[in-house]
Amino acid sequence: MDLYQPSKEFAERANLRAGADYEALISDARSDPEGFWEQIAESELHWFRKWDSVLDDSEHPFYKWFVGARTNMSFNCLDRHCQTERRDRPAILWEGERGDRRELTYQQLLEAVQRFSNVLKARGYRAGDRAILYMPMVPELPVAMLACARLGIIHSVVFAGFSSEALKTRILDLDASLVVTADGGWRRGKVVPLKQAVDEALDDCPGVRDVIVYRRTRSEITMQQGRDSWWDDLEAGVPADCPAEELDSEHPLYVLYTSGTTGKPKGIVHTTGGYQLQVSMAMRWVFDIKDEDIYWCAADIGWVTGHSYIVYGPLLVGTTTVIYEGAPDYPGPDRFWSLVDRYKVNVFYTSPTAIRAFIRFGDEYPGRHDLSSLRLLGSVGEPINPSAWEWYHSVIGGGRCPIVDTWWQTETGSIMISPVPGVTALKPGSGTFPLPGISADVVDGEGRPVKPGGEGYLVVRKPWPSMFRTLWGDPERFIETYWSQMPGLYFVGDAARKDEDGYIWVLGRVDDVMNVSGHRLSTAELESTLVRHTAVAEAAVVGMPDELTGQAVIAFVTPIRGNDPTDELAAELRDWVAQQIGKFCRPKQIRFSDALPKTRSGKIMRRLLREIVTTSRVTGDITTLEDLSVINRLAAQQDEERDGD
Ligand code: PRX
Repeated sequence: MDLYQPSKEFAERANLRAGADYEALISDARSDPEGFWEQIAESELHWFRKWDSVLDDSEHPFYKWFVGARTNMSFNCLDRHCQTERRDRPAILWEGERGDRRELTYQQLLEAVQRFSNVLKARGYRAGDRAILYMPMVPELPVAMLACARLGIIHSVVFAGFSSEALKTRILDLDASLVVTADGGWRRGKVVPLKQAVDEALDDCPGVRDVIVYRRTRSEITMQQGRDSWWDDLEAGVPADCPAEELDSEHPLYVLYTSGTTGKPKGIVHTTGGYQLQVSMAMRWVFDIKDEDIYWCAADIGWVTGHSYIVYGPLLVGTTTVIYEGAPDYPGPDRFWSLVDRYKVNVFYTSPTAIRAFIRFGDEYPGRHDLSSLRLLGSVGEPINPSAWEWYHSVIGGGRCPIVDTWWQTETGSIMISPVPGVTALKPGSGTFPLPGISADVVDGEGRPVKPGGEGYLVVRKPWPSMFRTLWGDPERFIETYWSQMPGLYFVGDAARKDEDGYIWVLGRVDDVMNVSGHRLSTAELESTLVRHTAVAEAAVVGMPDELTGQAVIAFVTPIRGNDPTDELAAELRDWVAQQIGKFCRPKQIRFSDALPKTRSGKIMRRLLREIVTTSRVTGDITTLEDLSVINRLAAQQDEERDGD
């Protein structure tokens, strides 16, 4: 396999260089992990009060970082920079889908955040309250996040593609009293009716006192008196001065829901001090951020990638973050490249699914634009197949940009395994090595490291600063899902291989979680949605390898007697799932079946169904990554352990 060494030009200017810098970090982190993070925390961030201890591990797995310290994410993202000449640099360069543009300097963003903080304060919201943010990708979304962070209000961003049902579940689980939304958002030229979805959800959410509505599409909506207010009305005459609260390092910053192996989404809880530290360091080590950089992460703020690497990470290190509202192919397949060209983006971060879509569109689209400003590329969300990697490297990166293939999860909060671009020799498709201070490893069923060339489960041995602290309202599930499979180790849920050179290759999930276009979907959540339909007796959902989206949702369905397995019914069921959870979950296929394969204890054997869908039609080199024989074997092992069957 070809190794891609960092070029001399890149390596010479890199934040971390091979030899002294990098080796020292790795060895410091190994010999004294707490001292390592402590030293960086002191130089990297502002603390109103220093910690009494770096790590409290007395209540495993409920770790605490920077115990006793006081800090504030919004202060570290904004106020700190506004005390220097950074205040006049652009913090956000925003482009709407229809071509409208806005630029906010750090000073302007600070003022906007303080004004909105005052609005929230005036309505009685305080540290510890919960706010749901269900918004399009407009600058007001980061403004609302940072205003919540400023006051200690715990925010939960709900991806704007979720349905009113999914929104309702999250509002109720979090017992939120505030919802911030917009009259609508633009997507592929059409209005996404966000306020309407909020209205539907709130029929069953009596705990919500306020709905603040940002005016984006000027669509016709209804405003409920006493509950709903326009963002601009509330801001009129409000002063742009609101000091940041001095919050405990362990104060929850946000809860982000993600799919697990049951029908109920998990509320991943992230706190403040450790999260901001590790996210900052990823910006420096992985994205090699320099003061003059223009940085664009083309994810959605509704997912964890957007939290850590569109909003918090870039602002923490004072760079310029590009935010684009709409679809990558609107109005044409060259939209992304026109943005790279217009804003002279230097560092660009996207998903393998997006890259595969661009490959399909054809090379002429990137070819229409000047992409020479790019110096570093990133990938996240799913394994990247080597041919997509090569295309990204040569067509987008002009052969000169290293690619950082970053492995992490909603739970880890920040990047865990990734090349360090001025140091690591790259192998297309491998996330390479854990970052300094991160003890990720590949182990066998007993938790022993696999030998070079071996495959097994991905785990993390020691606590890391940006780790999630619990599941909202469900500490037992936190212990059970992540900390009970391998005593003392964090169980990731992914299969991985360690090659002869120690490079890590993440293969895919070993549990009943799918990864479709880099989004996590739960088989159980989809199944329970399907069986709620009046025509469905039983359903089993599996992921089938898909050349574009990595995996696609295939649902095996047994209809209730009297319902014919027709194409119409299949179409109805696909729509039902889209309407109940969100369009991005719509099954690609419904396959009707009289019965589903089961174990003696009555558990559906998804492993067999997975084999059925994978052996019948697999194209492209995706098979080399989605090594299903490994995943099926590991998944079977786990099933047997759990089932005793
Ligand atoms: O299976 C891994 C895959 O995505 C999962 C995490 O999903 P989520 O929490 O939604 O976060 C996605 C963005 C951080 C992981 O358990 N995954 C993520 N990044 C990679 C990956 N698989 C292979 N390579 C990656 N770079």
